[in-house]
Amino acid sequence: MRRTLFIAAAVVLVLAAGAGAVLSGLIGAGPAGAALRATLGVHGGDEGVRAGPEHRWTEAERGMIASLSIDRLPPLPPDPSNSFGDDPAAVALGHMLFFDSGLSPDGTVACSSCHVPELYFTDGKVRANVRGADTPRHTPTIVGIGYSDWYYWDGRRDSQWAQALAPQEAAIEHGGNRMAHARYVLDSYLEEYEALFGPAPDLSDDSRFPSSAAPVEDETVRAAWEGMTSEDQGIVNRVFANIGKSIAAYSRQILPGRSRFDDYAAAVVANDGGLMVELFSAEEAAGLRLFIGEGQCTDCHNGPLFTNGTFHNIGLPLPEGENFDQGRSLGTFLVVDDAFNCLGPFSDAGSEDCVELRFIKMEGEELVGAFKVPGLRNTADTAPYMHNGIFPDLDAVIRHYNHAPPAFPGHSDLVPLALTVEQSDALKAFLMTLSAEPDAPSELLKSPEVLEGSGSSG
Ligand code: HEC
Ligand code: HEC
Repeated sequence: MRRTLFIAAAVVLVLAAGAGAVLSGLIGAGPAGAALRATLGVHGGDEGVRAGPEHRWTEAERGMIASLSIDRLPPLPPDPSNSFGDDPAAVALGHMLFFDSGLSPDGTVACSSCHVPELYFTDGKVRANVRGADTPRHTPTIVGIGYSDWYYWDGRRDSQWAQALAPQEAAIEHGGNRMAHARYVLDSYLEEYEALFGPAPDLSDDSRFPSSAAPVEDETVRAAWEGMTSEDQGIVNRVFANIGKSIAAYSRQILPGRSRFDDYAAAVVANDGGLMVELFSAEEAAGLRLFIGEGQCTDCHNGPLFTNGTFHNIGLPLPEGENFDQGRSLGTFLVVDDAFNCLGPFSDAGSEDCVELRFIKMEGEELVGAFKVPGLRNTADTAPYMHNGIFPDLDAVIRHYNHAPPAFPGHSDLVPLALTVEQSDALKAFLMTLSAEPDAPSELLKSPEVLEGSGSSG
């Protein structure tokens, strides 16, 4: 053990000296080189070492830092349950639908009402609220969400298209119903729909297809749905699923962009001390060290999206007067029950593609009060935080990790960190280096109406 440590230390020294040599070669020894060195905050010849101890990383740390870099993000894998997921025509239709408030009975709510492009596709609110009542949870970003196996804080959906159906029928979100939305889309986007999905069904017979119908809470709308034959329900469900598949095709295109951290990670990989100093302050580097070390953040926030994609209970305080939120322990039942899941009749996947759902972990103490680990890219720009929006800023988040109170019920997966004020500030400074504009064709980051400069979306 001692011996390994000694060798590791020697390797770091050699690597550090190597970087210094490369950098000296690049910058040069003359006055111009000195001026540049001063701007970069680099002094002397052995920059790798002189860059300061904050920028010296062990081989293991370098591996961990590299694993967080966006350079390691694989291309977005196809979604086998959505054959239209990467079809440009579906992207175009989904783009219009995402911003179209016609998918709500009073024409006031679209996906973009809560997933606001300018706010990194969040809404800046504690809980989403578009109809005078709070939704039970805080609006997460959708940037890079196409990489997920599970959707929603409790993972109650298993694809992005199945997820996209739910808000349309939630009374305090879009407030609509699948029958009305199928009609609306076939009226407003018939050409686009048929080009993708083939001949549209004829929904004109009112005795078979009432104007509003869906398995929702509203009794009239539900009764209308239950009065339909299962065959006719299937026809409407098919159109509804296709609406979801188009919206998902659009929203999965929105990926995280390259942040200052990613440039720093590249400098660490290249062992370029001068570049490290240029990119990160000593405080930010100290924060990164805490993030991957003493802070144990990478136990859960790991990989290029800073999430392990699983569910954890971190013992969050309950907002006053509220009931305990079951989180994942309920989400498992909901996703298995969902008619639009990977194994359902509207999925394009074979059962061999539905490994996550088939082998879902349904029971266990660790699922109680557990929520999906959110990615942390752009976290500085997406306050407030957590599934219940309980923390207004990153200071409050870090205070929570410092204290890590026990959870009730369930049990918290955290241990109190008790970081000093200085360390907490450093951790926050690091988190702020993860910001970048989303990576998507710029026209996809705006409403198509704004693009056309006209009031019509089709
Ligand atoms: C009223 C605000 C509101 C509207 C409208 C809305 N959302 Fe959301 N969205 C939320 C909230 C709140 C959550 C988290 C809910 C939960 O986890 O229980 C969420 C979650 C999501 C997620 C899951 C993200 C993750 O981390 O798993 C996606 C994807 C998403 N919404 C896309 C959409 C799409 C597409 C639409 C339009 C069809 C839409 N949303 C409409 C508020 C909204
Ligand atoms: C045991 C797993 C685990 C560890 C360790 C962990 N987190 Fe988290 N983190 C989570 C989960 C789960 C959530 C969401 C919890 C919820 O909403 O109920 C979260 C949420 C967050 C959020 C809020 C993001 C948002 O969009 O709402 C931030 C910021 C964050 N963590 C930073 C950190 C930092 C910094 C560390 C290290 C000090 C850390 N986390 C350690 C699991 C973890």
